[in-house]
Amino acid sequence: MKLFEGKKGLILGVANDRSIAWAVAKEILDQGGVCGFSHLPDKADDEKKKNRMRVSKCVDAYPAQTAFLEPLDVQDDEQVASFMKMAGEKLGKIDFLLHSIAFADRDDLSRDTVETSRAGFKLAMDVSVYSLISVTNYARPLFNADASVLTMTYFGGEKCVPGYNVMGICKAALDATVRYLANDLGPHGHRVNAVSAGPLKTLAGVAAGVGEMQDYYGYVAPLARCVTHEEVGRSGAYLLSNYSSGITGEILHVDAGYNIMGSPGRLLYEFKK
Ligand SMILES: NC(=O)c1ccc[n+]([C@@H]2O[C@H](COP(=O)([O-])OP(=O)(O)OC[C@H]3O[C@@H](n4cnc5c(N)ncnc54)[C@H](O)[C@@H]3O)[C@@H](O)[C@H]2O)c1
Repeated sequence: MKLFEGKKGLILGVANDRSIAWAVAKEILDQGGVCGFSHLPDKADDEKKKNRMRVSKCVDAYPAQTAFLEPLDVQDDEQVASFMKMAGEKLGKIDFLLHSIAFADRDDLSRDTVETSRAGFKLAMDVSVYSLISVTNYARPLFNADASVLTMTYFGGEKCVPGYNVMGICKAALDATVRYLANDLGPHGHRVNAVSAGPLKTLAGVAAGVGEMQDYYGYVAPLARCVTHEEVGRSGAYLLSNYSSGITGEILHVDAGYNIMGSPGRLLYEFKK
């Protein structure tokens, strides 16, 4: 029997086939799960409906296991409420919820943290942190007894990663949110975890400057390389599955071991050459 056979859930945050949310969803679909997907709403004047089209291209390969593909802007509570109502009507009870969503203005990512604007800070925290609380709260009535929630975080919330700036502050808050939600939902049997992924080339990743970081991992990470989409996808699916039933409030680093290092590792020897 496949890991997700008979399991249903929600995947929030696929933008295209490079999205981490798609890497996780693909594992779940390949393991027999049924998923309902969201996409960022298209602008009224976008006749091609590009946001929807890019996600359609992914999910169209799994018609029998795709319950729906509907727009959702997590900044709008009414949309979150009606999305979850629709999800309940189409899926009934659910077993998993993936939140793989973040956003900050490029201006705020590119300037020093000390110059972050108030509006940019609020925007980044609202989309990247509060949305986990909001979607979890509105989805709660749909949860089966052993439902699992997963969000995506990054090491820049634990240590200073220059260039990650305001998003690092968001990830620190997101990590804390995981722990508090895990405590709230634990008595109901529901779990809340995060995967802390190494740098991957996605829309959000490139905006946050992951390009050079991937090469750097080759020198510093114990595995002497960066991680792949597939590795992050499999670990995410694990935390959304019953195989991780004893784990909650956890930040699982899927980063080729980078986070354990207390020095630049093999890069030190490069300096000596
Ligand atoms: N790429 C990396 O290197 C990396 C590493 C660690 C963690 N992460 C995290 O993984 C998550 C997914 O990012 P990704 O790298 O797959 O990039 P991505 O751009 O593919 O995904 C980000 C998603 O957030 C969605 N989103 C943004 N604003 C939204 C809103 N208002 N309402 C609804 N959805 C909204 C986008 O539509 C997109 O689907 C993010 O939380 C990101 O911080 C990424």
